[in-house]
Parts: sequence; C-alpha cells; structure tokens
Amino acid sequence: MENRSQWGTRLGFLLAAMGSAIGLGNIWRFPATAYENGGGAFFLPYLFALLTAGIPILIMEYTIGHKLRGSAPKSFNKMNKGFEWIGWWQVAISFVISTYYAVIIAWALMFAWYAIGLDWGSDTQGFFLSDFLNMADPGVFGDMVPKILIPLLLVWVIVLGVLSRGVKKGIEIANKVFIPTLVVLFLIIVIRAITLEGAVNGLDTFFKPDWSRIADGSVWIAAYGQIFFSLSIAFAIMITYSSYLPKKSDITNNAFITGFANSSFELLAGIGVFAALGFMASQVSTPVTEIVDGGIILAFVVFPEIINQMPLAPFFGFLFFASLVLAGLSSLISISETYVASVSEKFNISRTAAVVFGGGLAALISLAYATQGGLVLLDTVDHFIMSYGVALAGLFEVVAIAWFFKGLKDLQNHANEVSDIKLGLWWRVCLGVITPAVLGYMMIQNLSTELT
Ligand code: PHE
Ligand code: NA
Repeated sequence: MENRSQWGTRLGFLLAAMGSAIGLGNIWRFPATAYENGGGAFFLPYLFALLTAGIPILIMEYTIGHKLRGSAPKSFNKMNKGFEWIGWWQVAISFVISTYYAVIIAWALMFAWYAIGLDWGSDTQGFFLSDFLNMADPGVFGDMVPKILIPLLLVWVIVLGVLSRGVKKGIEIANKVFIPTLVVLFLIIVIRAITLEGAVNGLDTFFKPDWSRIADGSVWIAAYGQIFFSLSIAFAIMITYSSYLPKKSDITNNAFITGFANSSFELLAGIGVFAALGFMASQVSTPVTEIVDGGIILAFVVFPEIINQMPLAPFFGFLFFASLVLAGLSSLISISETYVASVSEKFNISRTAAVVFGGGLAALISLAYATQGGLVLLDTVDHFIMSYGVALAGLFEVVAIAWFFKGLKDLQNHANEVSDIKLGLWWRVCLGVITPAVLGYMMIQNLSTELT
C-alpha cells in the first residue's frame, strides 16, 4: 500500500499544480470576465473570492490528498464511506472537460502552424468559422475530422504518454519543461503587446473601474466561478496531485503559492490581451469596447486579426498559439490524471491499463467535437458543466465535509501539523459558511436565468 508514487521535489509538485491551474481559463476567460464585470472594480470581488473560497478550498484539497493519500473517490471514501460518489462526480466532470479541452488544444496546435504562413488570411472570422470548422459544409463530419485528426491524436499521445510514465517521471518532468517555457513565451508576448501603439488605451479600458457593478450579485457569481475554474478546485485534481506529496510538506504554504501564482498569470494575461486589443483598436480606428471578446472567438478570430497587423507577425502568432498549447497541455494532463488514478485504484489495475481505457475512451469521445456541429456541442457541454457541474461539485464537497461528517477540524489539525501558517476559525468559516452560501446562491441564480 505505501509504495504510492511521490513527487521528486517540492518544486515539481508546485509546478504541476500551477500547470493545472494556469490554463485557457487564465488566458482567454479571465480578461473578458473581468472586463464584463466592472473592469478594475472586478478585482474586489475577485480577491474576495480568492481569499474566502479559492485558497481555503485549495488548502482543504491539499490536506485531503496529503492526509488520505488517495485519488478523489478513495479519499472521500476514507473520510466517509457514503461519500465516495462525490469523488466520482468530480472525476466525471473532469472526464467530460478533458474531451473538449483536448480539441481546443488541437486547434491551437493547428493555428501555431498556420501562424507561420499567416494562412488565416485577412478574413479571420470566415477562416475560423467556415473554412476551419467547416460549419457550412454538409455531412456530419464535413472534412473537419481528417483535418483535426492528426493534431488531436498528437495531443492525446503526448498527454497519455506523460501519464503512463507516472508521477515523477511523467507529470513532474512534463511540467518542469512546460511551465517555465510557458512563462518565458508569455512574458515575451506581453512585453511586446504593451509596447505596441494604442496599448495604453486598451489597458485603460480594462482597468477602468465601474463601481456601480459591485452591488450586482451576478458580478460576485462571476468572480467565484472564475476562481473555481481557474484554480482547478472541486475537479478532483488537486486532491489527486497532493496525494503524491511526501509526508513532510508545507500544505498551507503550497496552497498560497499556487493561488497567487495563478492569479498573477491571470493578471498578466489581462494586461497582454487588453494591450493587444488597444493596438488593434488603434489600427482599425474602432473603440476597444467594440472588439473585446472572450473565449474561443478571442483566441481564434480576434487574435489572428491582431497578429496580422503586428510587425513580425508569424513569430508572435506562433508564440501566442504555442503558449495556448503549453498552458492547455499541462491542464489536460492534470484533468486526465483524475480518472487514470481513480480507475486504477478502484479496479486494481495498472496505471498503463487505466491510461489505455480511460484515456482511450476520452480520446474517442473527443472526436465528436471535431464534427460539423462541434463548436455548438462544445459550447453547450461547457455551459452545463460550468453552470451546474462545478458549482454542485464544490457544494457537495464543502457541505459533506463541513456539515455532515464534521471533518474540517481533523483536516485543520492535520494541515497545522505540517504547515508554517496555522489555520484558525476563519478557515472553517470560509468553508463551512461563506462558500456553501455563495455556491448555493450561484446554483439558484444559474437555474433561474436558465428558466427565464
Ligand atoms: N484551471 C484551468 C484554467 O484556468 C482549467 C481547468 C479546469 C483545468 C478544470 C483543469 C480542470 O484554464
Ligand atoms: Na487558471
């Protein structure tokens, strides 16, 4: 039993946890979310969410993994037999996310290639939405599948290859390469972006606080939603990763480092994206507010357009999409590790067998998004996962632990034994009161907007 795999170094664990946290959510979700929810004023609810839910939950998940040394289902089972399903719920959500996350990385991989010749041309929207996705093409598969098949396969081969090599030789090494590279590439992009003409105007638009939004409940929901997704909490990931920590590990400190690193990257991305949008606005003489977008369209339509206007366009285009690939891969590795770890523990099969079955199934399902209706399917699945899956997973987790089996006190003692920073009552209040209240409110709000 006790020959559980372990991280080789503390830095290895931290890089893997940061690799999971830092992902597409930082690069294209945060800037748009902040902008739409009060700009500079959004930082208040955002910081509040980070300090009352993000970091406290991260500490809790690290403690669960470290103390119980199991994947999420097994760890929940050890806390209370009746709650193993909460772990499976989280694993299931991660499984679903992995199926479309892989496709987006495959797109980014293709766009990194297209960047070299600026193959997307001047009509970047037409290129992505019709040529690339082949939405206009009849037939279920269009000719999207052959086009996407190789990069998609490559993504899965990398991820599953890394996972099959195990924790220290696979996940740790991959993140030690990916994350420092990502930070360097991204810094180059951001420095270039803020030195472009019009950048200041973009930053003004981003940081200008709209304090009137602060009283709006939906702004607070957006802040908490961003924190959950961005920190990869309530996805079974951080429990799994911390189950490979050596006995002597400063859990609480690790959680603060992960949380602040992720938020710093998010802020950096916000600055880079809006500087670039400001540049674009100055080139086409339109206000920044009219070209802001988030998500897939920001990355695959707006950015190629910005890149077209830049000096050294192919170079920066390549760097941008390569960053997306690296950020995405390190997150996808962590998402997929949740089911590899839980399936191999539950059914007592080898890591390799779990990689082949779990990863193979996910890879097969991911083909569905490569079809003609892929983008619509992806948006729909993502919407339900984000609005209900994640909020529910977090709610089940904190309520079960804090209310039903009163596990918080045990976890607090465990964390305090190994950590420098000592947890006190504030930590239990965040988890037992504030987080459940916010997540409950989030669920009700999301349901009621759905129904109206
Ligand atoms: N945290 C990652 C991001 O910000 C995304 C992610 C979500 C990763 C869920 C794993 C699980 O992009
Ligand atoms: Na993130």
